[in-house]
Amino acid sequence: MIAKISETLLFVVVMVNQRTTAVLAILFLLFHSTLEQLVSRTERLSLIQLRSSLGLRSREWPIKSDPCFLWAGIECRNGRVIGINISGFKRTRIGSQNPQFAVDALANFTLLESFNASEFLLPGSIPDWFGLRLISLQVLDLRSCSIIGAIPSSLGNLTNLTTLYLSDNILTGIIPSSLGQLGRLSILDLSQNSLTGSFPPSFASLGNLTLLDMSSNYLSGTIPPAIGTLSKLQFLNLSNNSLSSSIPAQLGDLSSLVDLDLSLNSLSGSVPPDLRGLRNLQKMVIGNNLLVGSLPSNLFPALTQLHFIVLSHNDFTGGLPVILWSMSELQFLDASGNNFTGTLPNLSSNANTTAAVFNLSQNMFYGGLTSILRKFSFIDLSGNYFQGSVLDYGRSNVSFDRNCLQNVSNQRTVAECSLFYVERGLTFDNFGFPNATQPSAPAGKSHRSLIILAGVLGGLGFIALLVVVLVIFVVCTRKRSVTNQRGTGVGPVPASGTPPPPGVSLNFSRLGEVFTYQQILQATDNFNDVSLIKKGHSGDLFRGILEGGIAVVIKRIDLRSTKNEAYMLELDFFSKVSHARLAPLLGHCLESENEKILVYKYMPNGDLASSLYRITNLEDDNLQSLDWITRLKIAIGAAEGLSYLHHECTPPFVHRDVQASSILLDDKFEVRLGSLSDICAQEGDTHQNMITRLLRFPQTSEQGTSGSPTATCAYDVYCFGKVLLELVTGKLGISACSDATMKDWLEGILPYISIYDKELVTNIVDPSLIIDEDLLEEVWAMAIVARSCLNPKPSRRPLMRYILKALENPLKVVREEHTSSARLRTTSSRGSWNAALFGSWRQSSSDVAAIPAGPTHKAEGASSFKQSGTTGSQESGQNGGGDHSSSTRRQSKEIYPEPSDEQDVERQNED
Ligand SMILES: *[C@@H]1O[C@H](CO)[C@@H](O)[C@H](O)[C@H]1NC(C)=O
Ligand SMILES: *[C@@H]1O[C@H](CO)[C@@H](O)[C@H](O)[C@H]1NC(C)=O
Ligand SMILES: *[C@@H]1O[C@H](CO)[C@@H](O)[C@H](O)[C@H]1NC(C)=O
Ligand SMILES: *[C@@H]1O[C@H](CO)[C@@H](O)[C@H](O)[C@H]1NC(C)=O
Ligand SMILES: *[C@@H]1O[C@H](CO)[C@@H](O)[C@H](O)[C@H]1NC(C)=O
Ligand SMILES: *[C@@H]1O[C@H](CO)[C@@H](O)[C@H](O)[C@H]1NC(C)=O
Ligand SMILES: *[C@@H]1O[C@H](CO)[C@@H](O)[C@H](O)[C@H]1NC(C)=O
Ligand SMILES: *[C@@H]1O[C@H](CO)[C@@H](O)[C@H](O)[C@H]1NC(C)=O
Repeated sequence: MIAKISETLLFVVVMVNQRTTAVLAILFLLFHSTLEQLVSRTERLSLIQLRSSLGLRSREWPIKSDPCFLWAGIECRNGRVIGINISGFKRTRIGSQNPQFAVDALANFTLLESFNASEFLLPGSIPDWFGLRLISLQVLDLRSCSIIGAIPSSLGNLTNLTTLYLSDNILTGIIPSSLGQLGRLSILDLSQNSLTGSFPPSFASLGNLTLLDMSSNYLSGTIPPAIGTLSKLQFLNLSNNSLSSSIPAQLGDLSSLVDLDLSLNSLSGSVPPDLRGLRNLQKMVIGNNLLVGSLPSNLFPALTQLHFIVLSHNDFTGGLPVILWSMSELQFLDASGNNFTGTLPNLSSNANTTAAVFNLSQNMFYGGLTSILRKFSFIDLSGNYFQGSVLDYGRSNVSFDRNCLQNVSNQRTVAECSLFYVERGLTFDNFGFPNATQPSAPAGKSHRSLIILAGVLGGLGFIALLVVVLVIFVVCTRKRSVTNQRGTGVGPVPASGTPPPPGVSLNFSRLGEVFTYQQILQATDNFNDVSLIKKGHSGDLFRGILEGGIAVVIKRIDLRSTKNEAYMLELDFFSKVSHARLAPLLGHCLESENEKILVYKYMPNGDLASSLYRITNLEDDNLQSLDWITRLKIAIGAAEGLSYLHHECTPPFVHRDVQASSILLDDKFEVRLGSLSDICAQEGDTHQNMITRLLRFPQTSEQGTSGSPTATCAYDVYCFGKVLLELVTGKLGISACSDATMKDWLEGILPYISIYDKELVTNIVDPSLIIDEDLLEEVWAMAIVARSCLNPKPSRRPLMRYILKALENPLKVVREEHTSSARLRTTSSRGSWNAALFGSWRQSSSDVAAIPAGPTHKAEGASSFKQSGTTGSQESGQNGGGDHSSSTRRQSKEIYPEPSDEQDVERQNED
């Protein structure tokens, strides 16, 4: 307009030449009035009407001047208004007091092509007559106007419309299908409203559409396949609705599409390979849906323009296509929060570092880090299972949290990591500490022997040590001649089984069914990797299903790789002993020369190591931990099993592999002790006494007869102490740790276990436990029992049967032990186990009189979960853990589980 005026003026100036300014002014007014003045009187009045109904200010629309010439946002053609743009205008003070969608006067602008009121408050609904009167309208922009109500279906009459913006209002109701008549429409933006209903199928006829944004509404139903007809579409945003069912393959026909956003819906199914038709696609955002499956392998190679991909928070599985790592245009990839798995490609990256962002967090990627990471500027690997060392990939813009990496803070626990790797038949490097969770037999045993020895000797001379090494070696590796003599029934060897090694004969009638190798192969799908539970040190464990659908666990002992005769000892053990607290052996298969098979009942709740926490919701990594009642029940169950082995078997059996992963749990969380391949019998009493006499060096004699013979059982007790601490603190993997690793941790923990101060224990209690005052006393009691089990001196650890009693009566442990009145208490019969467990804690007051040796109740196998009758027993006199006469001689500080005993903590390591 201004340009036209100046052209005219120039013309006048050239023609008329040196006239006076007055003449110029007259001419200006003349030309102005003829060319630019609003000629329609109706429209002029209507504008003034509009000016007042909307409360517009003189600053924008000065009342006395000509609207076409001086009013802001008014566009005229041939003296008629064709455009009104009040976008961003402010109202007068009066006008803003009662703002309304009062635009009736607009109805008189029959040539109006564009109305732009974006960001101008119009609280009210779009009048129906818009569609009937504004028939020339091409552009309608009502973004962010606070409009309410429904979209009138009459808008479908505005067939000249090319641009319709209604986004960011409070529009409700369904999208009228009449909008499908707007054949010329190029831009349709209905986003950020409260529209409901489904995607109108009539939109299929909007063949000129380039932008369709219906994001952030409440649309439901499916994306109609007919969407594939919108061949000019470049921008499609349906994000943040409730659209369901799958992504239609026809979406792949949108060959012009540049931006696609389907995120935050409920789309399910997999990504159709047909999307490879989106050859111009640059942005693909399909995060936060319910999409599953693996990404089609031929998809990404076809999408050559793609540089922004969001796949996050779906249930995608399988690997990430390797091409994503090498697409040089790719700037942003968010694959987080899926079930993607696999390893990082080990490509050498000569390429320069790009500014690319890679987010692979919260998936199941594993294996080592590779140099491919150097290629990207920002990488988030958190919440995966990467292992190994970080080397030089650890730049500041890489996040490694919650993986299985070495020497990096905030990683997953040993148990979580090893479970992940073991379940997939992969090898976990165990944070660079080999053997802590799955001790290989030789290393584990020699270490244990050392522990036992250190405990037994308590710092004695090397010669004595040698003798004990010899004795223990003989005890644990002898081919069970003693037990054979005892002969708990030597049954006939069934024809199907190969004869056991010489020197061992078994009562096969007690060893369950004899399976054929064929049956075993069938049950495990030929030892399929998928069935592998874990590679244990005594054999590989497989899940299996027998004919008839019985779930079992199958141990496969490969005699070619290890000269492992432990299975015979285990069979021997099972042939003599049966107890409801031991993992039930269902049968065996010994027919193969090189592979021996043991079949156990399947334990639905796995083992304690994997049950203490269970991930209930992978999305936010919700861990559900076992409640306290269940933990106490598990502790008691395990103590019952060990107490049976230690005290009710003759000779006593030593488990030798007590840790959380050996404590199996059935469907009711009843304990069944597993991992029985290391089990080892103790020699008979006469033999023990002989050794004791042989080794009658000063310190042991001072400790009474409790020294060497119980040392092996005392080792079980020590390990059980670690299990108890694991239950109290919730620190997974403690019981599986080597003692060297334990040392620092114990030093930190033990000071918080005091018999005098209940509150101290709250510092170490598993924060996920919900416990009240009463339960806290139980927790405290368990911690105290744990501490007494962890006494560095094996002879001062309580016997298993007293531990069991203490766990069954946790409140007595704390209520009777920590008050001074308890010390003044004269003896009572119920105090017997208690006295045995804590005898020396109390002994400082000499009032502890003789402990009545109650009759030993030998509970029989399966029927005896409770063992309530067991109080003191004859053995307590011999074995000395509860030996009253010796305990009264001890100094209380020697056994009292108080933080002051620093030497003991230090000696933990030698133990
Ligand atoms: C504009 O149209 C409305 C309704 O169509 C009418 O009531 C009003 O008087 C008209 N305004 C003018 C100035 O003609
Ligand atoms: C009107 O619309 C244009 C864009 O088409 C915009 O740049 C301008 O600022 C708007 N407002 C006015 C008062 O012209
Ligand atoms: C309406 O005006 C706003 C701001 O003045 C502008 O950004 C927008 O592009 C205009 N709408 C149309 C369709 O031109
Ligand atoms: C305008 O739209 C309404 C509702 O969609 C319809 O009933 C009517 O026939 C249309 N009128 C014209 C002239 O197209
Ligand atoms: C697209 O718009 C043109 C005019 O701009 C029109 O002739 C054509 O019919 C429209 N296409 C469709 C499918 O409506
Ligand atoms: C789609 O719309 C939402 C808001 O409604 C917005 O946050 C998102 O960035 C849009 N997607 C694209 C690809 O522009
Ligand atoms: C991941 O896969 C596991 C089974 O492998 C499944 O239990 C879990 O629900 C899946 N998680 C997600 C987020 O899809
Ligand atoms: C990657 O390959 C190199 C040799 O090309 C090898 O040294 C390295 O261990 C590999 N890394 C992983 C994690 O496999």
